[in-house]
Amino acid sequence: MAGPQKLGFLGLGIMGYPMAKNLLRAGYSVTVYNRTREKAEELARNGATVADSPTEVGRRASVIFLCLGDSDSVCQVAEKLLESVQPGSIVVDCTTISPTVSRAIGERFRKRGIAFLDAPCSGSKAGATKGTLTFMVGGDREGFERIGEYLRAMGEKIFYLGGPGMGLQAKLTQNLIGALIFQAMAEGFVLARKAGLAPSSVLEVLQASVARAPLIDAKLPPVLARRFEPNFSLKWMHKDLGLMLESGRQLGVPLPATALVHELFGASVAMGHGEEDFAAAITLLETLAGVEVSEPVPDSPRLES
Ligand SMILES: NC(=O)c1ccc[n+]([C@@H]2O[C@H](COP(=O)([O-])OP(=O)(O)OC[C@H]3O[C@@H](n4cnc5c(N)ncnc54)[C@H](OP(=O)(O)O)[C@@H]3O)[C@@H](O)[C@H]2O)c1
Repeated sequence: MAGPQKLGFLGLGIMGYPMAKNLLRAGYSVTVYNRTREKAEELARNGATVADSPTEVGRRASVIFLCLGDSDSVCQVAEKLLESVQPGSIVVDCTTISPTVSRAIGERFRKRGIAFLDAPCSGSKAGATKGTLTFMVGGDREGFERIGEYLRAMGEKIFYLGGPGMGLQAKLTQNLIGALIFQAMAEGFVLARKAGLAPSSVLEVLQASVARAPLIDAKLPPVLARRFEPNFSLKWMHKDLGLMLESGRQLGVPLPATALVHELFGASVAMGHGEEDFAAAITLLETLAGVEVSEPVPDSPRLES
């Protein structure tokens, strides 16, 4: 059942576009804004109202979702929203950004009587499309309770983690573990392939062991198929690794393996893979080892003379 609130959605990228579409599908009235306007216009066909600026979304909507790229983009858009959002409204940031930056932005909204929640998500493009995302929410509980119905239109699992920035801390924890599992997968499969094993056989062995991981099940097939169009781009995973290190420094937690993976993924970004899926990070190791993680070509039958 659609509530009476008017919704806003800013940032219609890989995640934001299907998330906003699911809000429209659930019957909500949604004003959308995207820096590249064409993507917003596509959503107008699904009933969205297209705004010319973030300020216009702030004037029209009282529950406003953001799904932008990084901390800088959220700071820029927040400045515009602060010009127009009405007291009593609520801003929900689904972008993965620095918890410190998020707390500072949230404080500025709260001073104007506007609630602010960090609500990063996981589930990638497929979860955003199917409406099965997981949300990790930080901020005041009353604000969290006000947005439950909207999060349920976009996701399945919704966690309240505590005060401002705690949703982001949970999200960074999850991506830290995911990035390190990926690096373990890359090293294991490059070694196995160099030894002459077929990756599909190694995957079967892995799936019968305690080292199995859903992330490997999801990321190995595109590696084998050499298909790196982005579900979650390498530049954003690299950004998240930087945020984990920032958090580790602030909290006095050494993160040695994370630091190494940050550098390795940074090298892959420097090689031009930033806009590809983060699975493309395996290509750095493949280049160093002189092997590609793909199925071995069967030996050609020997020709009898
Ligand atoms: N993809 C995933 O699997 C996934 C999963 C969980 C969390 N996340 C996080 O969710 C966020 C969005 O991810 P995504 O994959 O949807 O990224 P994306 O496809 O790159 O989309 C980024 C969006 O932000 C907009 N944007 C970027 N900089 C801006 C600025 N300075 N001012 C205004 N708009 C700006 C882009 O507008 P344009 O269209 O004009 O470029 C686009 O709409 C990121 O923080 C990411 O780390 C992603």
